[in-house]
Amino acid sequence: MQLKNNNLLQQQAFINGEFVDAKNGNTFNITNPSTGGFLTRVADCGAEETEAAVLFASVAFQEWKELTGIERGRILRRWYELMMDNIDDLATILTLEQGKPWSEAKGEIKYGASFVEWFAEEAKRVYGDTIPGHQRDKRIIVLKQPIGVVAAITPWNFPNAMITRKVAPALAAGCTCVIKPAEATPLSALAIAQLAREAGFPPGVLNIIPTNKAAEVGKVLSTHPIVKKLSFTGSTPVGKLLMKQCADTVKKVSLELGGNAPFIVFADADLDAAVDGAIASKYRNAGQTCVCANRLFVQEDVYDLFLQKYKAKVAYLKVGDGMEEDVVIGPLINEKAVKKVEHLLEDAVSKGAKKLLGGGRHELGGTFYEPTILADVAVTMDIHQTEIFGPISPVYSFSDADDVINMANDTPFGLAAYFYGKNIDLIFKVAEALEYGMVGINTGMISTTVAPFGGIKESGFGREGSKYGMEEYLVKKYLCLQVETN
Ligand code: SIN
Repeated sequence: MQLKNNNLLQQQAFINGEFVDAKNGNTFNITNPSTGGFLTRVADCGAEETEAAVLFASVAFQEWKELTGIERGRILRRWYELMMDNIDDLATILTLEQGKPWSEAKGEIKYGASFVEWFAEEAKRVYGDTIPGHQRDKRIIVLKQPIGVVAAITPWNFPNAMITRKVAPALAAGCTCVIKPAEATPLSALAIAQLAREAGFPPGVLNIIPTNKAAEVGKVLSTHPIVKKLSFTGSTPVGKLLMKQCADTVKKVSLELGGNAPFIVFADADLDAAVDGAIASKYRNAGQTCVCANRLFVQEDVYDLFLQKYKAKVAYLKVGDGMEEDVVIGPLINEKAVKKVEHLLEDAVSKGAKKLLGGGRHELGGTFYEPTILADVAVTMDIHQTEIFGPISPVYSFSDADDVINMANDTPFGLAAYFYGKNIDLIFKVAEALEYGMVGINTGMISTTVAPFGGIKESGFGREGSKYGMEEYLVKKYLCLQVETN
């Protein structure tokens, strides 16, 4: 791996401010999804190292929470600056372990760092309240205090940004953290741990447990009585399990789970803008984001024209190794992901969907998959109820707003939804009727530090980013003071 700063390639766990091996010396392989080639070996931690990290985080919490928000904010700010100074190397590590194109990886590093920058500023704005007393001799004050040790379990599709989106507000609030990065992508996490050390976080404030034993480490993080809050981004089944495991110690929980985003195009929409928005939303990260357009609904009057324009552009999306120039679609993360996409495609075609573009493994081999468009998709197909996590666009037609709202809401998920149209009455009707936590209107890109990211229904709860993001890591305490009055 060619880096300018070789300190960023760390292979050990980061516990109490030190990079350390797993207790038993075990390691596991990290591979490059573009080539299938071996990258490096990383410490394979288990319950013992996780418990140690939780204890160190608990000790560190006692001093970290006593710093002022301004002091914590300064350290976070330095961390942000170090991320930006090292952006090229961080992007290289990310592309090599995850597969997304290097320019997109750079975009993720900027996105990830922006949470650190934002919460460095928010650290000094944890305002409480004073409430007029209910009796003449009562004074009521509401304090907001850090909840304690936070566990963060993060996914492979955004190996940098999903960590910073959780830990930046937690650290700003005065909490300390134990992070379990995804098995496939621990190197990005360990690289920012190195930068955290350089930024001056005291030992124990931030800990990273790489592991190939997700269930074992997840069990400790979700059951340990010292951990007061668990934040998870990943699949709905794993989120449900973690939530159950958190119940015994009544932890505060945030879950950002699967999505099944509808992308609706009304007949009066700017079709060229809708095509660009759909491509941006659908093919970002090769279709492997929770907010990717999962089902495209196009009003029947413009169905053929939309498909013609969409196909003309999707056909030119270059697939390849993310380190090569001009590549916009990298490989899928692993063979299991390709098999899932293949099943969804076969099921849809067997039930009447038409392959308009692509529809198979890419000639590059490995886990590369062709950008695919399926027309004449129907609600009876498995793809209607499944988060694809791959580069397939299933396109349905619909007659009117009520028809498409019913189809769009026909899912247990409720993360992101998108629609394009110009009629202002229709815009409000549809925006209010969609059962989703986030709605993009005439845009396919909604992710930003300044807005609350999160879902409803089985897509989870809790919000990340924005002024709401910090609340997840704070507890409210109300003081009732009796004073003498004459
Ligand atoms: C996700 O896929 O979970 C996150 C996507 C984003 O932040 O845009």
